[in-house]
Amino acid sequence: MQSSQERFRVVGGARLAGEVRVTGAKNSVLKTMAAALLAEGRTTLTEVPRIYDTEVMSELLRRLGCQVEYDVEAGTVAIDVPAVIGHRADYDLVRRIRASICVLGPLIARCGEAEVAMPGGDQIGSRPLDFHMAGLTKLGAELESEHGFIVARAPHGLTGATVWLDFPSVGATENVLMAAVLARGTTVIDNAAREPEIVDLVQMLQQMGAKVDGGGSSTLTIEGVDRLSPTTHAIVPDRIVAGTWAFAAAMTRGDVTVRNARPQHLEIALDKLAGTGAVVHGVEDGFRVVMDRRPTAVDAVTLPYPGLATDLQPVVMALNAIADGAAMITENIFEGRFVFASELTRLGAHVRTDGHHAVVRGQPHLSGAPVRASDIRAGAALTLAGLVAQGITHVHDIYHVDRGYPGFDQQLRDLGAEVTRELDPDAGFGG
Ligand code: UD1
Repeated sequence: MQSSQERFRVVGGARLAGEVRVTGAKNSVLKTMAAALLAEGRTTLTEVPRIYDTEVMSELLRRLGCQVEYDVEAGTVAIDVPAVIGHRADYDLVRRIRASICVLGPLIARCGEAEVAMPGGDQIGSRPLDFHMAGLTKLGAELESEHGFIVARAPHGLTGATVWLDFPSVGATENVLMAAVLARGTTVIDNAAREPEIVDLVQMLQQMGAKVDGGGSSTLTIEGVDRLSPTTHAIVPDRIVAGTWAFAAAMTRGDVTVRNARPQHLEIALDKLAGTGAVVHGVEDGFRVVMDRRPTAVDAVTLPYPGLATDLQPVVMALNAIADGAAMITENIFEGRFVFASELTRLGAHVRTDGHHAVVRGQPHLSGAPVRASDIRAGAALTLAGLVAQGITHVHDIYHVDRGYPGFDQQLRDLGAEVTRELDPDAGFGG
């Protein structure tokens, strides 16, 4: 059964207790898979999350001429990259996973040319690619948009340059970084993104023989090399999934230990959680969140890392929906993220949005209703809201959730929740 035809049935009144283990980050897997293209030979990734994105990227790499073995049970992907690879990524795959645009940088670097379909917008906003294009142009690539494709040429190779990003974009930093590692000379990326997934990519590239300094800071300095070697790399744990479990514990007045999590990647989020009244402490290989009362409302502002992740904003809003008091939430990264607020109000939440601000007035109770996931994080947050609502909540379009949370419903059941996956009789209706 396709998850596009499934929904979650969530029984309200859960208290989550027990342990969950987090796997590698969704936001790292596609980039590290794309980075494999930079070296001929076999690159192996471990801690690969069991999500749809990994399958789509495997298919994309196969079409470029690679052999890809994705062992779902073991959580590994082995990628055999031939000496000569294709340079075209088609729309049928790119449109499914927007972030597959991250093959652009490696393809220009390896092939001197690339044709990558433009992914288009999505439910969280327009998501332009101008910073990616400007950065690659600075390195000497000629980029044009033709028939729905970004067509890039660098017949004489790329040359290092200083690239100043207008905004510390994660995707643009990754694309320019992966192009620069094989460019002639030195590239400096200023105002670079500092997310742990960037650090993960930098570490993998270093293992491959790339010369990169400054990972995790706003300035990346890259000394181009002639060739890179394949490697084996364990993907960094998913901080957004870990953060979601932390908020889930607090919302349900639960006691959850999150394993294979790095609390240092979640400092602001866990500090916010402490502000709601939860007790958070580090344990070996992760952290534990215990909550014994109704959460207190907390204000939150999303910002590039190390600020609060926009990907956690929906769970912060869901927690505030049942908190004691009112909170102001400011979304600075994606204008479309508040689409989710209107679904939350179907459960009885009081949310008022104005531009990129939302005021949430906590309610003593939510009440179960049918709701629709508009994106990955919205889907997870609505499921958690269903857990604390009275009665039954059906979350439709859960294929979004499956893109970011491997085995989410099973993990919720393991923690004591009543969540089942069932055929959606309404699938295909109501868009
Ligand atoms: C990545 C994450 C996403 C996360 C986001 C911000 C992946 C697969 N996705 O997305 O989950 O929410 O980082 O942490 O890693 N922008 C431009 N022009 C550009 C590029 C970006 O204007 O060329 C704008 C975007 O519209 C947005 C902001 O910059 O407002 C940040 O986007 P960016 O950091 O690039 O996000 P993604 O890499 O797309």
